Amino acid sequence: MTPKTFKIKSFGCQMNVYDGERMAEMLAQQGMTPADEALDADLVVLNTCHIREKAAEKAYSDVGRLKREDGSKPLIALAGCVAQAEGAEAKRRSQLIDIVVGPQAYHRLPEMVAQASRGARPVDTDMPAAAKFDALPARRRAAPSAFLTVQEGCDKFCTYCVVPYTRGAEISRPWADIVAEAHSLVEAGAREIVLLGQNVNAWTDGSRGLAELARELATIDGLERIRYTTSHPADMTDALIAAHGEVDKLMPYLHLPVQSGSNRILKAMNRSHTVETYLATLEKMRAARSDIALSGDFIVGFPGETEEDFEATLRLVDEVRYASAYSFKYSPRPGTPAATMEDQIAREVMDERLQRLQDRINTHQLAFNRSKVGSDTQVLIERKGRHEGQMIGKTPWLQSVHVETSAALGDLIDVTLVQAGPNSLTGATLQKVAA
Ligand code: 5AD
Ligand code: SF4
Repeated sequence: MTPKTFKIKSFGCQMNVYDGERMAEMLAQQGMTPADEALDADLVVLNTCHIREKAAEKAYSDVGRLKREDGSKPLIALAGCVAQAEGAEAKRRSQLIDIVVGPQAYHRLPEMVAQASRGARPVDTDMPAAAKFDALPARRRAAPSAFLTVQEGCDKFCTYCVVPYTRGAEISRPWADIVAEAHSLVEAGAREIVLLGQNVNAWTDGSRGLAELARELATIDGLERIRYTTSHPADMTDALIAAHGEVDKLMPYLHLPVQSGSNRILKAMNRSHTVETYLATLEKMRAARSDIALSGDFIVGFPGETEEDFEATLRLVDEVRYASAYSFKYSPRPGTPAATMEDQIAREVMDERLQRLQDRINTHQLAFNRSKVGSDTQVLIERKGRHEGQMIGKTPWLQSVHVETSAALGDLIDVTLVQAGPNSLTGATLQKVAA
């Protein structure tokens, strides 16, 4: 039976959210409608993440939960990075899975759904360099802040990471395609565009880089804010740093993962930067844009990490004073070099280090939020708050602000920041400045 309704569940990173939106647009173009609940849908797409441990086990147990009480089940598509890593093996491990589709093949989803409706169990985890993007429909609806994938894949091969294997080699989308998609997102209601890539600042069309792309997008009327994520320290060019000082629409926020504050660990991670080169990049960034908010990713308990190495990470956090940061316990990923390194760190040690690191990060995050109290800033309204009349938006520094206002989604309003917590601020409205 051909499915009439669908549910897409995306896990993991923002690129999966983007991919999920694009799959939804394709299925809608086929005449299918979205369902609220997975169990009510005729087709469920699990758009999975493989970055940390037990990803595959989690995906299979999510699949198992799609069996209904009466014994029936929706058509089930396993998508995303677990699908890429498992391939045809997924069909053997779970009889419930009808379709296995990797991140570079999802433009074929409608065709695979048609095959599955006829009883086949198609698998496509090819990674052609050819752009799947050409096969996707135009953007029709966009949130005030919309994602736009400009680059995929990674050639860096950090020794802990599966991304080079699940997302493949670095590929940049062509300039003209990105500019066209940005225009259609703005026409569809976006006020902010977040450019996405596993190594977004490695984006290039051969001669131009992300700096030039940001300058071009900044000329689009109606587009108020440009962000990009995730960047690699080694690809943070002077041109991109300079753009932060010159392009007003480029927001003063940079997510620049460092992973560790110990050069010995950075080397073992194959990070191609040191603490010193990383700090030098941040210094240049602050010189170009003094109010830049910095964010990062950290891994604790990488094989061989000593207490001294970990304390170097804490010192780095204190030195940078991150506005926000993500921290993870090292998780051995099969097939990556670090998984077989000696001196794997005990779980209790990782737990304890993670706690200390997160406490330190939270302290700086709260201090950063508090440093904005009393100042006026612009907030982009992105969603409704919990009670009537309350809206939630973002500052230029990506802080969430709760504000009582009659402003609508997508409005950019002037706000005085009056109170700060660890994860959000409260604002009071001045007047509406732009719609
Ligand atoms: N274990 C723990 N964290 C990891 N990350 C990537 N791979 C692993 C792993 N094997 C983290 C890194 C990266 C973020 C997206 O996820 O910090 O920047
Ligand atoms: Fe993974 Fe390193 Fe590439 Fe980031 S730069 S995706 S951590 S291999």
